[in-house]
Amino acid sequence: MFTEDNLEIEIKNISSTPIFGSFESDISLPKEKLNNDSMNPQIAYRLIKDELLNEGNSRLNLATFCQTYMEDEATKIMSETFDKNAIDKSEYAQTAAIEQRCVDIVADLWNANKSENYIGTSTVGSSEACMLGGMAMKFAWRHRAEKLGLDLTKQKPNLIITSGFQVCWEKLCVYLDIELREIPMTKDNMCIDTEHVLDYVDDYTIGIVGLLGITYTGKFDDIEALDKICEEFNKTHEQKLYLHIDAASGGLFTPFVNPELPWDFRLNNVISISTSGHKYGLVYPGIGWVIWRDRKFLPEELIFEVSYLGGKLPTIAINFSRSASQIIGQYYNFVRFGFNGYKRIHERTKDVAMFLSREIEKLDLFEIYNDGENLPIVCYKLKDDANVNWTLYDLADRLLMRGWQVPAYPLPANLEETLIQRIVCRADMGKNLAESFLSDFKTAVDELSNKRERTGAFGFTH
Ligand SMILES: Cc1ncc(COP(=O)(O)O)c(C=O)c1O
Repeated sequence: MFTEDNLEIEIKNISSTPIFGSFESDISLPKEKLNNDSMNPQIAYRLIKDELLNEGNSRLNLATFCQTYMEDEATKIMSETFDKNAIDKSEYAQTAAIEQRCVDIVADLWNANKSENYIGTSTVGSSEACMLGGMAMKFAWRHRAEKLGLDLTKQKPNLIITSGFQVCWEKLCVYLDIELREIPMTKDNMCIDTEHVLDYVDDYTIGIVGLLGITYTGKFDDIEALDKICEEFNKTHEQKLYLHIDAASGGLFTPFVNPELPWDFRLNNVISISTSGHKYGLVYPGIGWVIWRDRKFLPEELIFEVSYLGGKLPTIAINFSRSASQIIGQYYNFVRFGFNGYKRIHERTKDVAMFLSREIEKLDLFEIYNDGENLPIVCYKLKDDANVNWTLYDLADRLLMRGWQVPAYPLPANLEETLIQRIVCRADMGKNLAESFLSDFKTAVDELSNKRERTGAFGFTH
């Protein structure tokens, strides 16, 4: 216990006092209001770091698509560029040029046609990128509708998407007063139902969203089929039908692993594409990309000229100030890996996913929905005739005891009865880590099925 008397001595000795012997290490960290006094930086660091000790270990979190590993050189250059404000393109002209290089590289990966005038930007992630894509579709639809003399007060504009959409689309529709027309996924068709998509279309449809990677399962919508539907529709209708592709997870995976799959700007009616750089672009969270195939699909009123930072430069993004370090991290990966590096990393991740899928299938208890073939995601449910007295929630709990986070969750509308589990393999999930996971997975299944005694009391292991 420290008193006024020994405080002075303590302050004098601060540089040599061990952290856990220090006066400050006894101070409660501010919770609801600031403490009055400053604190030694090493002690502040240690106390906050310790507060975070009991959190999950991101490398063992198989629920997230977001990157949990980058090379030391990447984190070095990213931490050296935290101070750069990405929006300040006059002060950080070279950073702005690097952002544009990234846009060009991504446009090239998505087969943007050089004869068209593509335009794009970095964003915080796919959510912002999807919002921009959706917003541009709404504004462009309204211009077309006004020209055609449509009564804009008659009904809300609508957006068509499978029920397996990610929440950012619901947000967009709430924020911009758009009707979200969900096409329910069915048991046999776990992606957009292309047979019935036209039933949802009318003059107030701003566009259709195709998913290159449905969040729930990792499956792909049939984007080529959607494009054909639009092509046919547009031959006979004045109010045109276009596609935005939400390629949050597939956009920086498929071009390397399955380049012959046509899902991008090779298809005429794909007018914009978004992705997360922090998923298979292999950057830590906080980066996304959106590109329009031609400026004509991004209405002028969504491009803002900002002069007060010096110079007069256009900005498209919703956010204003943010660190440029994530853009630099993305460029580092592009420079460092090159096309073949990304290809090798992603192909190996896919091998790991397919290995896990095969091994889980061999247990004869699980029906595999996605075996990692298109995206390295393994998704499964318990077989109807599995005849076990535990659920995937129990399995998730049991895996968590060993530190693995693999949540179980129900499928969306109309399929809520089906409980699934999803393992997202990322670049840092090597074969050895996958084998450790598999061993824990099998032990958990055996213990739940009472085929094996519990190996003792264990808790959260990290
Ligand atoms: C299909 C899809 N769209 C959008 C998002 C949102 O991505 P972000 O977290 O980069 O904002 C996700 C995230 O998982 C997604 O899977």
